[in-house]
This record gives sequence, C-alpha cells and structure tokens, in this order.
Amino acid sequence: MAHEGEADNMALVIGVPREVFPGEKRVATVPEVVAKLVKQGFRVVVEQGAGEAAQIGDEGYRTAGAELVADRAALWSQADLVFKVRAPDDAEIALLREGSTLTSFIWPAQNPELMQKLAARKVSVIAMDSVPRISRAQKLDALSSMANIGGYRAVIEAAHAFGRFFTGSITAAGKVPPARVFVIGAGVAGLAAIGAASGLGAVVRANDTRPEVADQIKSMGGEFVPVDYVEEGSGVGGYAKVMSEGFQKAQREVFAREAANADIIITTALIPGKPAPKLITEAMVQSMKEGSVIVDMAAEQGGNCELTVPGQSVVRHGVTIIGYTDLPSRLAKQASTLYANNLLRLVEDLVKTKSIDGDTLRIAMDDEVLRGATVIDQGTVTWPPPPPKLSAAPPATAKPAGAVPPAPKAHGAPSGPMAGTRAAVIFGIGALLFLLIGRYAPASFLGHFTVFVLGCFVGYMVVWNVRPALHTPLMSVTNAVSSIIAIGALVQLAPDLSKISTDLARPNEWIRWLSVAAIALVAINMFGGFAVTQRMLQMFRK
Ligand code: NAI
Repeated sequence: MAHEGEADNMALVIGVPREVFPGEKRVATVPEVVAKLVKQGFRVVVEQGAGEAAQIGDEGYRTAGAELVADRAALWSQADLVFKVRAPDDAEIALLREGSTLTSFIWPAQNPELMQKLAARKVSVIAMDSVPRISRAQKLDALSSMANIGGYRAVIEAAHAFGRFFTGSITAAGKVPPARVFVIGAGVAGLAAIGAASGLGAVVRANDTRPEVADQIKSMGGEFVPVDYVEEGSGVGGYAKVMSEGFQKAQREVFAREAANADIIITTALIPGKPAPKLITEAMVQSMKEGSVIVDMAAEQGGNCELTVPGQSVVRHGVTIIGYTDLPSRLAKQASTLYANNLLRLVEDLVKTKSIDGDTLRIAMDDEVLRGATVIDQGTVTWPPPPPKLSAAPPATAKPAGAVPPAPKAHGAPSGPMAGTRAAVIFGIGALLFLLIGRYAPASFLGHFTVFVLGCFVGYMVVWNVRPALHTPLMSVTNAVSSIIAIGALVQLAPDLSKISTDLARPNEWIRWLSVAAIALVAINMFGGFAVTQRMLQMFRK
C-alpha cells in the first residue's frame, strides 16, 4: 500500500471541476477518457456532479478510475492540470494554485482583463481556442469539434423553429417544395450545417469569401454562390481576411438576392479575433417570407445579422432570429466526449514533448502546436504567438523595390563569406568524385550514372521551389509520373524483342500477360494520379 501511495505522489493530478457558467451543460472529461488517462499514470480528480448536465453520472467516472470529490476548493488546490470548458470566473481564478496549468476556452483577444487576472495568479494557461489550425494539431482542435457540433445543432434549431418540412414532397394533400437554406461562411460550422441541411432534404446554397471552399461546399451537398468581384479572400493560416469595401458592396447585393429567396439563413462568418462582420441587414430580414428563420452562429462575436440578440431567439418582421451562443452545449454529451478527446490528445502531446515529467508540468514552448495554444506561461503572457509557419494562403503580393528582405536561411546555416567557402569546398569535392568515377568506371555505367545525376538535379530543382501547402498535390503528381515504368511493360510486349527468347516460349507468354496486367494497373495510377492532382490544385486556384 505504501508503495502505491508513493507512486500516487509522483503522478500528475488532473482536476475536472463542474462548469459554473449559467446554462453550460458540458463537462471537460468523460469516463472513457478518464480510463485512458489513469492507464497512462495520471490521477484524475472529478468534482461530484460534474457530468450531471451532460447525462454522465458520478458512478461512470468512479468506475473509470477517477476520484470524486465534493469540496471544490480541495479539487483546485491539488490539481496540477485543470481541465475546464468555459473560461474561469473570478471565484475560480482565486482557487487556481500557483504553478498549476489551466486548460479551457479563453478567447485571449476578447478577454484582456481575464488574461491579466490569470497571469497574476502565476499559472500557465493553454487556450483551446488558440490551437493553431495546422494538420498536425487537428486532433486537439477543440474549436473545430465544437463548431462541427454547433453547425449541426444550428440546423436542428432552425428546423424546430421553421413551420415546414425540409424535404420536398408531393402528396395527395398537396405539393411541398423543399426548404431553401442559405449558409454564409463555409468553415467548419458552415460545412457541418450544409451537410446536415442537405441531409434533411433542403436545397442548400452557400457563400464564403474564400473561393477555394467551393469544392467542399459541393461535396457536402450544397451549391456555391459566388460574388462577382475578383479579390483573394484567404488570409494567414487558411483563415479569411477582411475584404475591401468594393467586395463587401458586391457581396451585399448577392446576399440581398439570396435572402429574399431563402427560407432559412445560417450565418457563421468570422475572422478570428475580429468582431463578426454585419452581413444580413434589417432590409434583408424584411425581404424574407414570414416564418423564415435565421440562425446567427456568430452571435457571441456580435452577430452577422443586424437584428441578432446574443443568447436569445427573437422574432423580427415575422422572421425568427436565433442567436444562441451555446449550441454545442445543447448537445452536451456529444460535445463533452469530443472535447474530452481533444484534451486527451493535448495531454499526449504534453507527454510526447516531455512537457510532463513525473508530477511536474512545464510546457515545451519550442513545439509549434503547444506554443500556439499557450497564452500564459508561468505567469507571463505569451499571446499572441508567432504566425503559423505553414499556410495554404497565396503568396504575398510583390514588395516594392528595396523592401525585399534577405532570403531566409536554414537554421544554423553559416552566412556571408563562410557560406561561400563551404559551397566552394563541397563543389570541389563533388568535382573530384566525378573525375574519379569518369576515369575508372566502365562506359556502360557512366551512361546510367549521368542520367541518375541529372534526374537528382532536376528533381531537386522542381521540388525545392514548391510551397509546403502544395506538397500533397506534388506527391500525387510524382506518383502519377512514376507510371513511366509502363515503358518497361511495353518493351516486354514488343514483338521483335519477344523473338529473342523463342526457345523459352512458355515463360515468355507469362511475361506478356504480366506486362498486360502491369500496363492496366499503371494506367489507373497514371490517369487517376493526374486527375486527383488536378482536383487538388483547383482547390488552390482563385
Ligand atoms: P471558421 O473560421 O472555420 O469559418 C468561418 C468562415 O467564415 C470561414 O470559412 C471564412 O472564410 C468565412 N467568412 C469570413 N468572413 C466572411 C464574409 N464576410 N463573408 C462570407 N464568409 C466569410 O469558423 P468556424 O469554426 O466554422 O465557426 C464559425 C462561427 O461559429 C464562429 O463565429 C464561431 O464562434 C461560431 N460558433 C458558434 C457556436 C454557437 O454556439 N453559436 C458554436 C460553435 C461555433
């Protein structure tokens, strides 16, 4: 027993308090995740009744290996790492133990005062809303998992408030046209809404300032509504940017047309850290048919519709305008499960980067994902982080002459005359090697070797200049190019060559059939590869 106690003392304590924000039903962990954390050697302490609103009982947590405590203060004081959903209120901030780490939604740009209060407690804070949206961080992207649920729930709320079927039908009692849904902003929430609404049978149209999402809208069952105004809408990290006045005017005209025809509008337009753009005017609301519905998902950031009341459902000009800010919480169990999984992945990253060592936690700030999400490191505000390194964004427009910065150098690479000497030495060694090979290698080898060296050179020059965001289509096209081996199979099929081995008639037949099979397979690789590459490249075009 004593031994067990000793091991426990070494384990990092994860505390999961009950959410106190009025109406919040989610909880930061679920029993399935507790079991995994306990298995990895953590002590998980959950406040009694924490999962009640999400229909998760205390017993479930206990069975999974968590310790249940009734005393809130005791939980906060022993937790090294606190898992929460909503940002802490003043009472909770006061309970935070110095040196501990808090993980929750924070929204640092909108809450400078909260940031100051947290920093004063000398804690570290990982903001789940600040996890960079790069592929490696997808598994801990809580914003996406919540937006996905929010988008789905927005459609359910709209369907609830809308007095008709979504799907069209012809019955003896009359013809019902399908509901017309217009979605603004095809990010995570918008795409989920498009999928849910088209799944229910509605006709879905959608707009986004980033034209590259047109394919995604289509794949979710919607139709892309373009704005006839040429302007690139993608900003840093694949997010949108604020558009010019000219674009906004053209967009308003399109929206006015769409609003007059739509039964339901779901708006999700947002640029992180900025107030939500006002896209649906009072006049547009007035133009909608009575009984129509608007779900304004950006309500918390001020709303995309002029008449939205955050947190409420109101009726204006006969149109129901839903401004709920707790859509994921309305699907509490699902949202808690996904959020708990995001936090589990975060802990795994903390372990992998050696941020967790026994019972101490010191965030590895050299890790791009952890750096991006950490907004306070041991009492020091570290937000905003440096911009993400990888971006699918288009290249910046040419800088005026004289403002061009020097080309970035590889980390640790020498510069100036040092670099020149090094290059000369490498070149000299290479030339000497080639001279030796040319002098002593057989002539047949030299031909192949020259082709090989030229191949390396051309490959290097082609690949080196491709931006990282385009590496996936690059892989796909090189895969398609590898179909050049088809030449080998074609040579085997050539009649004059097959004569060479007439005495080996039987294996020759085999080789021919194998060549036919190889050509068939290679053809799939070649045509499929080029087609897929073309499709991927289209996603990057204006
Ligand atoms: P996201 O960043 O993935 O998507 C936002 C999309 O809006 C982007 O595709 C962007 O290009 C587009 N956009 C920006 N400005 C635009 C404009 N002027 N016109 C047309 N499109 C524009 O964000 P995500 O994760 O999909 O979230 C969307 C919104 O939903 C956010 O405001 C988020 O806070 C909110 N949300 C609300 C919830 C609720 O309970 N009400 C729950 C979850 C998310």
